[in-house]
Amino acid sequence: MRSVVRLRTRAGRLPVADDGGGGVLSELADSRERARAALPREVWDYYEAGSGDEVTLGEAEAAWRDFRLRPRVLQDVSRVDLATRLLGTVAASPFVVAPMAFHALAHPDGECATVRGAGDAGCLTVVSTRASRTLEDIGAAATGPWWFQAYLMRDRGLTEALVRRAAAAGARAVVLTVDTPYVGRKGRVSGVRIAVRDDQYLVNLAQHLVPGAVAREAAEQDPSMTPDTIGRLAEVSGLPVVVKGVLRGDEAARCVEAGAAGVVVSTHGGRQLDRVVPSAHALPDVLEGVGGRVPVLVDGGIRSGTDALVALALGADAVLVGRPVLWALAAGGAEGVREVLHGLAEDLRHVMAVAGAARPDALDRSMVTTA
Ligand SMILES: Cc1cc2nc3c(=O)[nH]c(=O)nc-3n(C[C@H](O)[C@H](O)[C@H](O)COP(=O)(O)O)c2cc1C
Repeated sequence: MRSVVRLRTRAGRLPVADDGGGGVLSELADSRERARAALPREVWDYYEAGSGDEVTLGEAEAAWRDFRLRPRVLQDVSRVDLATRLLGTVAASPFVVAPMAFHALAHPDGECATVRGAGDAGCLTVVSTRASRTLEDIGAAATGPWWFQAYLMRDRGLTEALVRRAAAAGARAVVLTVDTPYVGRKGRVSGVRIAVRDDQYLVNLAQHLVPGAVAREAAEQDPSMTPDTIGRLAEVSGLPVVVKGVLRGDEAARCVEAGAAGVVVSTHGGRQLDRVVPSAHALPDVLEGVGGRVPVLVDGGIRSGTDALVALALGADAVLVGRPVLWALAAGGAEGVREVLHGLAEDLRHVMAVAGAARPDALDRSMVTTA
């Protein structure tokens, strides 16, 4: 006679055994394939592309596997609490949705579906300047906290208007992306025109453009940006400003000294300068430069709870996830986004327990070593 054991997971409690499934990696692979089938070829390529020879893109995921764990034992891990506090924003897990352009290419509800799905998973979302829904609609749809990602545009008044509106719509921080003085050249999509309707491309900008301005030029990144932009955007928005796209400790220190409330270690998903050091390898240097003064987040190739575990043990406060959220959005809308973030959180909960850490702050640098 076979006995059937039903697995039940209460909040924070772990199932006693593996669910027999293929785990979060196979769920992500499945969602990726469903997105590939659902999306027009040029949109798929736009989401997947990296710059140059795609060396950085290709190394991002593998770089997290260069670390090995040194688990603790005899810890009470009967409950694992993933709650994460970032600049006064409280989230249920350290997984954050990375800012990405044009979610309406993946799903008709665009960013409104993303913030709803992420909020339902208890996660923070960072909404891109290039969002395809208005900040007001996104703020109204949000079921959880969100931050606004700003580019400093050639028409600086545009950026200032956007951060003011984002604050009024409910954003709790500004994330200033600094690795994009010019947009990286992506061979995979060079010369390919993606049908982004003007009302989606300019949805948050149209109302601020002075008559006669060439909208797309005014909205290009300003390549003359310097650190004083950090203080300026904090003043205009009344919000903390987190700087995204830093790969060196000395540059991170410069940002903190200019008033940054946080730093995101990022290669922009391998879409800016090709052959930069992978985020996983840049993280320790940035943490040293920051010296605990402000939170440090990291993104690029995070695809499992173990990747996040390595990042948190090295000292990151949270991890951003990019493409997997777009795959989930394309394949399953808001529910798909909720599921992928929930799946990643459950995977992290499991590996943290097995590593002997009941909370993110129980992880530390001694728990990870280079392979
Ligand atoms: C299609 C796409 C669009 C993106 N758009 C933006 C953006 O508008 N602003 C920004 O700061 N980063 C943008 N990024 C970079 C992401 O925020 C993030 O750094 C990166 O995707 C993380 O890597 P991952 O996709 O491997 O998780 C974009 C990335 C992708 C894939």
